[in-house]
Amino acid sequence: MKEEISPWESSNVKDYKKISKKFGIKPVPDNPELKENLYFRRNLIFGHRDFDKFLKDWKNNKKTSVLTGIMPSGPMHLGHKMTVDQCVWYQDKGLDTYVLIADIEASLTRGLSLKKSRKNAIQEYLANWMALGLDLDKTEVYAQSNRSVPYYRLASLLSKDTTLAEMNAIYGNLEPEKITSTLTQASDVLHLQLDDYKGNHRVLVPVGVDQDPHLRFIRDLAPKKDLMKPASTVHKLIPGLTGGKMSSSKKTSYIGLNDKPKDAEKKIDNAVTGGRVSLDEQKKKGGKPEECMVFTLFKYYFEENDEELEKRKKKCLNGDLFCGECKQCLKERVSKFMKELKEKREEALNEIDVEKIFEEENR
Ligand code: TRP
Repeated sequence: MKEEISPWESSNVKDYKKISKKFGIKPVPDNPELKENLYFRRNLIFGHRDFDKFLKDWKNNKKTSVLTGIMPSGPMHLGHKMTVDQCVWYQDKGLDTYVLIADIEASLTRGLSLKKSRKNAIQEYLANWMALGLDLDKTEVYAQSNRSVPYYRLASLLSKDTTLAEMNAIYGNLEPEKITSTLTQASDVLHLQLDDYKGNHRVLVPVGVDQDPHLRFIRDLAPKKDLMKPASTVHKLIPGLTGGKMSSSKKTSYIGLNDKPKDAEKKIDNAVTGGRVSLDEQKKKGGKPEECMVFTLFKYYFEENDEELEKRKKKCLNGDLFCGECKQCLKERVSKFMKELKEKREEALNEIDVEKIFEEENR
């Protein structure tokens, strides 16, 4: 049976309500403090698992952490920015932050060498993460291939707490290397609760909906090791620029964070819009912002002001804003963003002490 969402290939989910209902993802709590964050406010983070419990523990000054993993294959693109922004947001609010490099997973499922994975993780991903605001001094970074013994012990022992039938029900058919990747990811999320690390506590994992199967699997395992179920928030996946999925294997579908601004502008020129076949018809009927990738980019990343976003939408719907003008405005914002990012990334690259990252992680 083909799974509707899969962590192994890029997904293009249409109906998030249906997915939520099917898999038991809860709607985000109506908490005014969360509204300060654009992704929560615009329902781009559409659901969660035990996030309410996590928020309560955090508020009551109990131990908490936020953790995510970098899959270091291929280029980093705008779609990845959502997770980064969320982690930075939590970090700025004082939450302990863990970022792991999924080099074992990249090696097993994408065929990259560990060396290549690490290099790409640092130069392509971590540098951009820092450019986007991650404070490396306040982040624990580790590579899956180089974590200490209790982490590995847990990954091994977890295999006794599941069955192939349970795994197949969640993931569909699994090859051995995917089974290992899955157990490794389970240890990523759960090992912080071991006494060798921070002890029992609620860990938050902000994920795109494609990673939700992992969270379901890991949450089932947690009580079997007397650990707390990790919490998650679940965000939508931004669709590809040319329609369909955003996928690192299709260059025109994404804006890479290391793209040249000129190339990014070209991709915007070629993006799918909600425009009509002729100017006349657009004046008469208005455009379709909900189907437009230019509008979507404003909504996700390039228009922080809700009123301005609403104005843009209304003007489009009324036939008073045409695609050329709208694209031009987006191109200017994207170019500016990319130029600034490049400067910050170059600074970051000078700051990253690779030896230190891989030495410290083995404390
Ligand atoms: N599987 C994740 C991806 O494809 C990477 C990852 C590995 C991860 N371990 C993790 C994500 C733990 C979140 C938490 O992107």
